[in-house]
Amino acid sequence: MYVLALVTQKGGSGKSTLAVGIAVAALGNGERVAIVEADPQGTISKWKERRRHPDPRVVRVADSAEIERALVSLEAEGIWLTVIDTAATNNALAMRAIARADLCLIPVRPSPADIEAAIPTLIAIRRLNRRFAFVLAQTPPRGCRVSEAATSLNSLGVLALPYVGQRNDHQDALGAGLGVTEFAQEGRASEEVRELWRWILKKLVEGSSDHEPHARNEKAAY
Ligand SMILES: Nc1ncnc2c1ncn2[C@@H]1O[C@H](COP(=O)(O)OP(=O)(O)O)[C@@H](O)[C@H]1O
Ligand SMILES: [Mg+2]
Repeated sequence: MYVLALVTQKGGSGKSTLAVGIAVAALGNGERVAIVEADPQGTISKWKERRRHPDPRVVRVADSAEIERALVSLEAEGIWLTVIDTAATNNALAMRAIARADLCLIPVRPSPADIEAAIPTLIAIRRLNRRFAFVLAQTPPRGCRVSEAATSLNSLGVLALPYVGQRNDHQDALGAGLGVTEFAQEGRASEEVRELWRWILKKLVEGSSDHEPHARNEKAAY
């Protein structure tokens, strides 16, 4: 089972929106997908209540022991991808999510304050020796701030592609209990999320072949 964690202590950066978007894009390829919600705010469970389709499974967790139990039982059920959505804090639960992730995604809006706010998360990820990528999120339709932000993030680590633009489809999809790829299949937002998911999947597959057969033991050490 691949584990993907959306992390950054900055609120409003787009963690929950991307968690839903990515999970549903992965479902669209016929995979078994779950979301673990490690955020008391409950954005994902509220979305799930509005959703008619039974997938993805959503499991809420409140502490590190629960996250462990959830991941073990999801893997035993045959889930192929678990996306963990975390709260806007570097608490123990977020740290556990990072430690258990095959890949951490750090959504960052293109502003100096948002980039600065991502640094403590980056430090935590490096300390736990996990793989990560920034996702430039909620980018405006035009302007040089986006390329400046991309340059800064590239200098700090890997930047996922493509950028995720600021588009109403993301908000409307969340409100309708849908993933953006279900809500407006032909839209630009949908296209970006599908492409981002392909980028992420490539990294997950590369990572698992890099680390096999030791990956499990490395994870068990955290
Ligand atoms: N790409 C996007 N385009 C437009 N609005 C977005 C986008 N991503 C997130 N939002 C909106 O920004 C707000 C914060 O997003 P959210 O995913 O809840 O962030 P976080 O989980 O990091 O706190 C929400 O109102 C959400 O609808
Ligand atoms: Mg959230």
